[in-house]
Amino acid sequence: MMKKLKLAIIGTGARGINCFGELLRKHDDVEITALCDTNPVRVKAAAEILEISPNLYTSIGDMAAKETLDGVIITTPDCEHYSCAMQAMKHGWNVLIDKPLATNAKEGKALIKEAEKSGVTLMLGFNLRHNEVLKRLKKFIDDGVLGKVFIAENREFYDGGRTYMSRWNRSFAKTGGLWIHKGSHDFDVFNWLLGFPKPLRVSSFAAVNVLDKDHLPFELESGIEPGPNCNCCHYQAKCKDKYLLSPEDLKLWGDEAVAADGYVKNLCMYLSDKDNHDNGMAMVEYENGIKVSLFETFIGSKTDRLYTIGGDKAVAEVSLENCTITITPRWGGDVVTYKVEIPEGGHGGADPELVKTFCRVVRGEENSTSTAEHGLLATALGEAAEISRRQHRMVEMSEIL
Ligand SMILES: NC(=O)c1ccc[n+]([C@@H]2O[C@H](COP(=O)([O-])OP(=O)(O)OC[C@H]3O[C@@H](n4cnc5c(N)ncnc54)[C@H](O)[C@@H]3O)[C@@H](O)[C@H]2O)c1
Repeated sequence: MMKKLKLAIIGTGARGINCFGELLRKHDDVEITALCDTNPVRVKAAAEILEISPNLYTSIGDMAAKETLDGVIITTPDCEHYSCAMQAMKHGWNVLIDKPLATNAKEGKALIKEAEKSGVTLMLGFNLRHNEVLKRLKKFIDDGVLGKVFIAENREFYDGGRTYMSRWNRSFAKTGGLWIHKGSHDFDVFNWLLGFPKPLRVSSFAAVNVLDKDHLPFELESGIEPGPNCNCCHYQAKCKDKYLLSPEDLKLWGDEAVAADGYVKNLCMYLSDKDNHDNGMAMVEYENGIKVSLFETFIGSKTDRLYTIGGDKAVAEVSLENCTITITPRWGGDVVTYKVEIPEGGHGGADPELVKTFCRVVRGEENSTSTAEHGLLATALGEAAEISRRQHRMVEMSEIL
């Protein structure tokens, strides 16, 4: 019988529980030895929801004093990744950080140095690389079906106002901006699909155009203010964007948890004090001449990533939601649409694969291919896009890397 890996999850919110906790508790070769969250209510509720009884901690220091671990998974808000990963590596634990690596490239570089010094693996949770549709697309590119690729785009639609504008994700200080928080996923997909060419320069535009107080989707009644969060809002019945917390959610995000740290999960997405964008476009030019563009909107009910990859032999058009890849050859011939089978699991079967990979990496059975260096590259591209959109200029990657 293989020795069980002793793992801990740091940050027992949505992703810590619904992805990593849920998946790891089903792994026979893993023991979820500990859960750690600065919010004592949430860490206790997480163990109850997952129906496990690990040791519970509210600080990494306390956890380190008592536990011998093989690895930790960090699923805290992005602004905590640096400090949590630094502490974890200094304790000699292997680390998976769910994307992004950090909120800026400077922190990312320091994390890479510490991983080298501590001799541990620092791996990134770039789960989209395990998505079956994107894996098939990469195979088409690697097999030369598209010929020499020269242009690529991803139009991302995400029904994400509730996620991005109602809680910490709306804040630049907590994320380094959405081009890092959300965009680093997508910049990494471009880098990976294209074989990691060197990015040269980035430009972007982004703004809040819809999810603000001028665009509330209902008429205000005289003297009655909306919000501040959906559960107590007078306009609940009229608001098409309400985000009500279920009784299960309230175990994690209800009054008791809020009293401990002030973190409200469902602030009004129109009134929240956001300084991240609700839509934008970013472009990258690579050394080999490939140009990519990333369009993202968090407004509306559509959720999809629609890719177009242009090569000198064919064009590929992809929908992650429909699980389709259509290849149109350059000089006629059959236009073929492939429907890709998707296995069970979040993000098109990608999350279970990510977890399995981390376990194999910690066991030393394989090397991580989602490296901290890749995390740094994606974070740096996001940082460049943030600088570009805030300073209204094109940013050379040499300014950052
Ligand atoms: N790969 C993906 O597809 C994907 C999807 C969603 C989120 N994420 C990433 O996962 C991370 C978590 O996102 P989430 O939506 O689960 O957040 P969340 O707010 O639901 O949970 C974060 C938890 O971390 C806790 N926390 C805060 N500071 C901490 C600290 N210093 N030590 C320990 N715990 C701390 C909070 O109390 C909270 O319970 C983010 O970095 C996000 O970018 C990745």
